[in-house]
Amino acid sequence: MKIGIIGAGFVGRAIGKLAVRSGYQVMLSNSRGPQTLFSLRYGIGCDVGTVEEAAAFGEIVVVAIPLAAYRSVPVEPLVGKVVIDTDNYYPDRDGNIPELDAGAATTSELLARHLPQSRIVKAFNAITMNDLEKDGLPAGSVNRRALPLAGDHFADKAVTIRLYDEFGFDAVDVGPLSEGWRFERGRPVYCVPMAADQLKIALAATARAAIPA
Ligand SMILES: NC(=O)c1ccc[n+]([C@@H]2O[C@H](COP(=O)([O-])OP(=O)(O)OC[C@H]3O[C@@H](n4cnc5c(N)ncnc54)[C@H](OP(=O)(O)O)[C@@H]3O)[C@@H](O)[C@H]2O)c1
Repeated sequence: MKIGIIGAGFVGRAIGKLAVRSGYQVMLSNSRGPQTLFSLRYGIGCDVGTVEEAAAFGEIVVVAIPLAAYRSVPVEPLVGKVVIDTDNYYPDRDGNIPELDAGAATTSELLARHLPQSRIVKAFNAITMNDLEKDGLPAGSVNRRALPLAGDHFADKAVTIRLYDEFGFDAVDVGPLSEGWRFERGRPVYCVPMAADQLKIALAATARAAIPA
């Protein structure tokens, strides 16, 4: 299966590396063009391309860019595809987005509005990439770390749950995209290692009213 990745920073490279290791064909991209990603062909064993090419290449496409740039993600090549949104909201980097500041939308709902014919899944956002590369364990291991995900259709989430498993993690399905706030930046579970039972309890106990600054 082919995975296109938009963004080739910490997240794009970590997911790309783990996906290649799991047997996927991967194309990484950034806004500056594939000539700036030349060494990744050998370092990771992936293809590199333009954003449009990576979007067209992937049967699954991962968005791993600063949130402020989400409107630059190409719409047409992503129609009908599962798009995994890893982005987090950092006002210091992204500027203030009033809807997010007000808790009126989740980060992935913004992307879903931009890509109305794509199948958005929020995932991989609540773990640091250092941890993603080092914390994976075989299925069934005691205290295997679990990662949350959210999306509106189970079939789309199943694709992501499989990736989590292949990368060494259990999955906790938090529900539809509108519930993604439970594991956004600043929430109690954000980037905190937990096994599935503990993560489920912590997610259920998270209060939306307490939006962190
Ligand atoms: N770092 C982590 O551990 C981590 C963990 C989970 C989630 N996240 C979230 O995941 C997202 C990516 O984080 P990161 O740490 O990978 O960031 P990063 O290291 O700064 O990398 C961002 C990448 O996106 C590219 N990019 C920027 N604007 C773009 C655009 N309009 N179109 C295509 N590519 C673009 C950048 O390259 P060019 O500037 O050359 O285009 C760069 O390759 C962020 O929203 C972050 O909050 C980060």
